[in-house]
Amino acid sequence: MNIRKRMAIGSALIALGWLSLPGFSSASDQVAAKKILQQNCVQCHRLEGKPDSRFNLKAPDLIWAGSKYQRPWLIRWLTGKEAPLYSKGYRWDLNQTPAKHPVVSESEANALADYFAAHNKDARVTVGAFDVTKLSRYEADFGAMAYKAHACLGCHTIEEDGKLIGGPQSTALHESGKRYDKDWLYRFALNPQDFVPHSGEFLADATDPQVRAVIGYLMTQGVKDFQYYEPWTSAEFDKASVSRGKVLYKEYCSQCHGLTGKGDGPAASGLEPKPAIHANIPFDQLPMEYLYNVINHGGPAVGKSSNMPYWNLTLGQQGVADVIAYLKATFKGAPESTAATSAASPAAAAAASVLPAKAAAIAAPIAAVAAAISSSGGGGQSDACIQPRKTVRAPDSFMAMKNPLPASAEVLQAGKELFQKTAKPAACAMCHGDKGDGKGMMGAALVPPPRNFTCNAMMKDIPDGQLFWIIKKGSPGTGMMSFSGLSDDKVWQLIHYIRSLAR
Ligand code: HEC
Ligand code: HEC
Ligand code: HEC
Ligand code: HEC
Repeated sequence: MNIRKRMAIGSALIALGWLSLPGFSSASDQVAAKKILQQNCVQCHRLEGKPDSRFNLKAPDLIWAGSKYQRPWLIRWLTGKEAPLYSKGYRWDLNQTPAKHPVVSESEANALADYFAAHNKDARVTVGAFDVTKLSRYEADFGAMAYKAHACLGCHTIEEDGKLIGGPQSTALHESGKRYDKDWLYRFALNPQDFVPHSGEFLADATDPQVRAVIGYLMTQGVKDFQYYEPWTSAEFDKASVSRGKVLYKEYCSQCHGLTGKGDGPAASGLEPKPAIHANIPFDQLPMEYLYNVINHGGPAVGKSSNMPYWNLTLGQQGVADVIAYLKATFKGAPESTAATSAASPAAAAAASVLPAKAAAIAAPIAAVAAAISSSGGGGQSDACIQPRKTVRAPDSFMAMKNPLPASAEVLQAGKELFQKTAKPAACAMCHGDKGDGKGMMGAALVPPPRNFTCNAMMKDIPDGQLFWIIKKGSPGTGMMSFSGLSDDKVWQLIHYIRSLAR
């Protein structure tokens, strides 16, 4: 086919609105795209020039349109399949309400996208600067917090728990994961004024990790089933070494947690809450996400004491992987909650883990005895129903609160789901036990022990508002973390469920 003929067919297809194959742009498409832009777009949008205040513009600049958008979004926008971005109008200062945006055909939209890719790339954007495939759930959650802490919510909407929240002054960000190119977004965040100077946009005093977390979080907005990165599936964890972990444990953990994991290191006497008694935790059964976050990112990452340091910088990923391998190989849980294979003594366990099965069978009972002895002085649980309760009393305004939800089957079921499985940073059952008796797998590691919700004699005297306050804030100086990320409704669902466990 000669070139002239192909061009003729190409423009015929465009005219009919057929050609929708991306990346098949011919010279004629480019000419057609340019014509569309000149005739239908430049009266509102700028395609070149220097960044300018939005108060001098009619519409967002398209100067960097070749770098800014994900192509499928751009096509949807141009063909009229996306909701307005500025719900109060782009020029709200002129009382402009969002008008219907001009619409082009699918083929024209593709030609325009190709045109932008060829003519409106932004050289300031480094391709590959932001790796969204390495975004963990923890980082995204951290980004959501940073987003709020840096006032972003004040001017841009996002989606949380199925609701839009935030001030709709500027562009909506609740679908930003489907809209922006990740590298453009990252570059924008480094210095917004390079794109829209002096127009009410905001320069945040955020560190690079904070900026990356915020951008990562925005890249999850509007993306169903976002695939989070799981650091514990990395190569470092594949080649983790128990013996290297053992050395690290002695050097970095024993000062608080004790050489044999009994929570009795030299620093422990001055700490509230006490360092967890590792000897009583069945590490194999802990969710990796929780274990990784508390060690890599520190206590506050899971709502716990900031006296539990973050180890990512000190130990690196390999060190964190090694020490986790050591914990799993060494500590198997409190003796009363596990079989006789329990190993509370790191020496015995390390021995057991390297010895062949026969020798391990001999080592195990010795370890079990050691565990029994070691746990007798530890915190852990007891069978007494009423627990000594030094928990801080909630402020009066909270004490007066009553559960606003009905104790319906749906509410109880929702509370159960949170309690047993889904509450973040950790399911309540992990500490309070699946029956609510305070004997969860981590319960025995905590001093004071988790509350026993089955004890009606004690629970009947604790008002709803007190429970609400502790769940939201945590119980300072104890292993009870704060669940500040749970909505009020979810906390009330939990309280109905907790009450249903009392006998
Ligand atoms: C009458 C003015 C006007 C015309 C003509 C117009 N636009 Fe727009 N465009 C706007 C406004 C205003 C917005 C902001 C949309 C909103 O408020 O939701 C916008 C938004 C956009 C966006 C998203 C910008 C961003 O990053 O926020 C793109 C892309 C776009 N237009 C492309 C085009 C193209 C291509 C044409 C020509 C086919 C065109 N527009 C014609 C006014 C116009
Ligand atoms: C005081 C209000 C205000 C605050 C606070 C604010 N922004 Fe903005 N933001 C703007 C304005 C104004 C613009 C320019 C775009 C427009 O509306 O014309 C903008 C632009 C943006 C854009 C690019 C939008 C686009 O499509 O061109 C992103 C992304 C963004 N902001 C993210 C953030 C983040 C993240 C934070 C918090 C660190 C933040 N903003 C805080 C007002 C604000
Ligand atoms: C400076 C003292 C200190 C050091 C050093 C320390 N921890 Fe901790 N750790 C704590 C405290 C305190 C807690 C209890 C936090 C709470 O319950 O709020 C804790 C809790 C934990 C928990 C359990 C969290 C839970 O849910 O109860 C794990 C696992 C843990 N630490 C692992 C480690 C590892 C591994 C190291 C060494 C790399 C280490 N810690 C070093 C103080 C320390
Ligand atoms: C890491 C362990 C841990 C997890 C996970 C945990 N708790 Fe606790 N919880 C505790 C400990 C320890 C106490 C005892 C604190 C005290 O005595 O003040 C406690 C106490 C409580 C109390 C008693 C407050 C009072 O005034 O007596 C409530 C209510 C409670 N937890 C609810 C929850 C709920 C709901 C969840 C899940 C959303 C949860 N806990 C998850 C460890 C945990």
